[in-house]
Amino acid sequence: MPTRLVGLLLLSTLVSSRLFDPYPIRVVRQTLVESNGQADGKGDDVNVDASAHHFKNADGTIGMNVTSTGNATSGSGNAGIDNTASGQVGNNHIGSTGNISASGPNSEVFSDIFGDIYGEAMAINTKQQGKSFGTGDTQVQATGNANLTKNGVVSPSASDKNIANAGATGSENSQAEVSSNQILTWDQLIAQLYGHASGSGKTNAQANVDLGAGSQSNGVEVNGLVSGVNQNGGQVKAEVEGKGSIDGSGHNLSGGMNGAANGTGNSQLVGATNLQSNRTGTNTTISAFGDAKSGGDGDSAITLNSNTSANSNNGVSGAIDMQNSANGGNKNMTVQNGLQVNDNKGGTLAIGYGEIKGNGTENSAANIGVNSQYDQNGHAQVNTTGTGSAVSNNRNSSLTMEGNAQITNPNGTKSGTATASGNVMGAYNNLTGTNQVVVGNDGANGNARMEANGGGVGNSAAETKTDLILKNGNETRTSSVSGSVKATGDSTIVKSVSEVSDNNGVQTMSNFQHAVSNSKGSSSASASNSGWLKRRKRAGGYWEGANLWMPAFNVSNYYPEV
Ligand SMILES: *[C@@H]1O[C@H](CO)[C@@H](O)[C@H](O)[C@H]1NC(C)=O
Ligand SMILES: *[C@@H]1O[C@H](CO)[C@@H](O)[C@H](O)[C@H]1NC(C)=O
Ligand SMILES: *[C@@H]1O[C@H](CO)[C@@H](O)[C@H](O)[C@H]1NC(C)=O
Ligand SMILES: *[C@@H]1O[C@H](CO)[C@@H](O)[C@H](O)[C@H]1NC(C)=O
Ligand SMILES: *[C@@H]1O[C@H](CO)[C@@H](O)[C@H](O)[C@H]1NC(C)=O
Ligand SMILES: *[C@@H]1O[C@H](CO)[C@@H](O)[C@H](O)[C@H]1NC(C)=O
Ligand SMILES: *[C@@H]1O[C@H](CO)[C@@H](O)[C@H](O)[C@H]1NC(C)=O
Ligand SMILES: *[C@@H]1O[C@H](CO)[C@@H](O)[C@H](O)[C@H]1NC(C)=O
Ligand SMILES: *[C@@H]1O[C@H](CO)[C@@H](O)[C@H](O)[C@H]1NC(C)=O
Ligand SMILES: *[C@@H]1O[C@H](CO)[C@@H](O)[C@H](O)[C@H]1NC(C)=O
Ligand SMILES: *[C@@H]1O[C@H](CO)[C@@H](O)[C@H](O)[C@H]1NC(C)=O
Ligand SMILES: *[C@@H]1O[C@H](CO)[C@@H](O)[C@H](O)[C@H]1NC(C)=O
Repeated sequence: MPTRLVGLLLLSTLVSSRLFDPYPIRVVRQTLVESNGQADGKGDDVNVDASAHHFKNADGTIGMNVTSTGNATSGSGNAGIDNTASGQVGNNHIGSTGNISASGPNSEVFSDIFGDIYGEAMAINTKQQGKSFGTGDTQVQATGNANLTKNGVVSPSASDKNIANAGATGSENSQAEVSSNQILTWDQLIAQLYGHASGSGKTNAQANVDLGAGSQSNGVEVNGLVSGVNQNGGQVKAEVEGKGSIDGSGHNLSGGMNGAANGTGNSQLVGATNLQSNRTGTNTTISAFGDAKSGGDGDSAITLNSNTSANSNNGVSGAIDMQNSANGGNKNMTVQNGLQVNDNKGGTLAIGYGEIKGNGTENSAANIGVNSQYDQNGHAQVNTTGTGSAVSNNRNSSLTMEGNAQITNPNGTKSGTATASGNVMGAYNNLTGTNQVVVGNDGANGNARMEANGGGVGNSAAETKTDLILKNGNETRTSSVSGSVKATGDSTIVKSVSEVSDNNGVQTMSNFQHAVSNSKGSSSASASNSGWLKRRKRAGGYWEGANLWMPAFNVSNYYPEV
């Protein structure tokens, strides 16, 4: 049974104080000392307590202490503590709130405020922590603020943005946890924030964290969200962790994400974290974001891993990695992720994107990986890779792959795009492709390859194409190759390969087309290609021991930097 308990305390005292003026007259004044502590709790098991003490020391110093504490747990619903404490000695005033609530199958919350005025010195010490765990939805939310005033003037230190929220959803496991500690004195704030949320289960899972402390001119924020879904009740996992601290003017923030979405049919996994540190005259931000989708007729697995940090001494760094793997005949998948940084290196945006679409009748595998990184020296790297295949019997196969990476910083934009595509027909046929682009502060490298094989009873045909476009400011390097091959007859074999690569300006390309036809009646085989290649043709000939005509085509060229 939920119970409510209120610990309430109000105390006022008038303390006589003797002030010694330079004049030989003794003035006796009275100083108002007042304190107020109230903790109001909700839950199955609630403990609340408020106490205060007013005193005047032998040396004439007047002081007061106020404490307000609450503790609530619930095994069946909500638990909450609303806590306030304030106090006054003469014109010195302290005030603080600490409200925390948790919902979910099991909840525990705790809030404690200790306020203290001793002569002209004042301090507030607040602590809030809570967690919720079980299955389904869990959530913890805490807000608070603390302020010190002298004659109505607010202290240069302040904390009016204190927040610590975490929430999770998962049919098998769900937990959310926060803690927030603050010590506020006249000219300094020390704050420590922590939030963690994780959810796992069937069909969907999500986790979120939202933390904040300090003020507009000396404040921190840490936010994160991971959310995943699988259409057919597959296993999904989401986890976010955030930490933030203010130690006077030093800030230290970190964020982490983990996620997975597995299953058949459509899946999607998204995640984002943001770290923000505001100090007088300086904003520092690092955001990491990612989004992957998978669709097709087989199973797929998407993963997300990310870590970011922002430290007022060491700078900003972070990484996000997403992998998307799928099996099946047909697949349609994407991955996109990146980092946005605003720091004393002038800021960087780093983004990568990968996409694979494949069609076939037989099971085959594909994978896209996008990895974006940023380090404390201002170096970014985006690495997008793909491998894919499509396999069919008695039907065409098709495969298209695209990979992009881009970095923009004060030195301009560098980017790369690698695409590979192919179509093939034949009694049995397949396509396999790879692509990669790596873009860093020094420039872009990449490669792409597509191979088609077809053959068996009846006609076969194949075409493949690869393109690579690398840009560094207004300089563009392009490599492009395509080819096709066709064979008709009772029994045929075709093979088509297109390949391009560019590493540090060294471009290599290769194009290979090969057709074989074996027939009692008429038969033909042909091959052609185009691109940035000088054609070198070799005359076709008969394959030894058989009535096979083989037009061979194998070109490999080397181009220096343009
Ligand atoms: C008031 O708080 C101060 C600081 O924590 C402590 O040193 C002092 O003992 C407290 N006084 C009383 C009367 O509780
Ligand atoms: C909260 O209350 C429970 C039950 O009285 C107690 O065991 C626990 O120590 C308290 N926790 C805190 C942090 O005060
Ligand atoms: C100080 O904190 C108290 C308690 O939370 C609040 O009532 C009051 O408005 C605050 N004062 C200022 C100046 O922020
Ligand atoms: C930090 O600055 C940004 C942009 O000015 C603002 O939106 C945000 O609320 C600030 N955060 C804190 C904790 O003050
Ligand atoms: C998803 O599948 C991969 C590969 O089978 C496995 O390693 C991972 O643990 C799975 N994740 C979840 C959340 O089930
Ligand atoms: C902080 O960020 C905000 C919003 O991005 C911007 O408007 C403001 O000028 C920035 N302040 C400083 C000092 O860079
Ligand atoms: C090709 O694959 C897509 C995506 O998986 C699917 O929607 C489409 O029906 C497939 N096409 C054929 C001809 O199988
Ligand atoms: C691929 O999936 C996207 C949505 O994820 C959809 O809009 C698009 O039509 C699909 N393409 C094919 C060929 O199935
Ligand atoms: C890019 O990613 C691939 C696949 O994870 C990896 O094998 C390769 O080493 C990476 N390249 C760089 C330059 O990091
Ligand atoms: C920009 O280019 C200069 C000169 O090459 C180099 O020193 C600096 O590190 C570069 N900055 C970034 C952010 O890449
Ligand atoms: C594609 O077909 C070729 C020729 O039949 C074969 O050597 C290769 O193993 C096949 N690859 C896949 C992925 O099925
Ligand atoms: C790129 O464009 C800038 C400004 O338009 C120009 O100053 C620079 O010379 C160009 N660089 C090259 C390599 O063409």
